[in-house]
Amino acid sequence: MSSTKVLPIVAIAGGTGKLGTHITAALLSPQLASSFKEVRLLTSNPASEAAQQFASKGAKSVSVNWTDEATLLKAIKGADVVINSLGGSVSGFPGKNALMRAAIKDGGVKVYFPSEYGIGMGLSFGIELT
Ligand SMILES: NC(=O)c1ccc[n+]([C@@H]2O[C@H](COP(=O)([O-])OP(=O)(O)OC[C@H]3O[C@@H](n4cnc5c(N)ncnc54)[C@H](OP(=O)(O)O)[C@@H]3O)[C@@H](O)[C@H]2O)c1
Repeated sequence: MSSTKVLPIVAIAGGTGKLGTHITAALLSPQLASSFKEVRLLTSNPASEAAQQFASKGAKSVSVNWTDEATLLKAIKGADVVINSLGGSVSGFPGKNALMRAAIKDGGVKVYFPSEYGIGMGLSFGIELT
């Protein structure tokens, strides 16, 4: 009996930034790309050089407004994994929290990685949402 493997959709926010470019490049690398049905790049600037480069390598670029939770909710619709790599502090950049709230609300998101890579509370592991 044959079984069809359902591949997850991964969405990354801040994937054009200093840290995020490395994560996005890894997700699109030949070693990892075949593990995902889709690598979705959420960005406030799809025209940026980094966003264009990632789109040419297979990322699906989705334009967002980081402070508008409704557009974030729409942008992560269908994603199984959401990686937050937005810059700045939570108080300095509210978009970080808006994305987390959207990921929790969406219901379909199974794993959420907060943007706390070695700074703040040190939550550098993924939070299981289901
Ligand atoms: N950089 C480091 O050396 C370093 C070291 C240790 C830990 N970290 C942590 O890693 C995470 C990401 O940091 P980063 O330095 O890679 O971030 P970053 O390059 O400053 O920003 C990442 C992305 O966030 C989006 N963004 C849009 N408006 C923003 C705003 N007003 N403030 C902040 N970000 C905005 C941009 O994406 P779009 O243009 O695509 O919308 C930007 O490319 C943070 O939690 C940081 O504390 C960074």
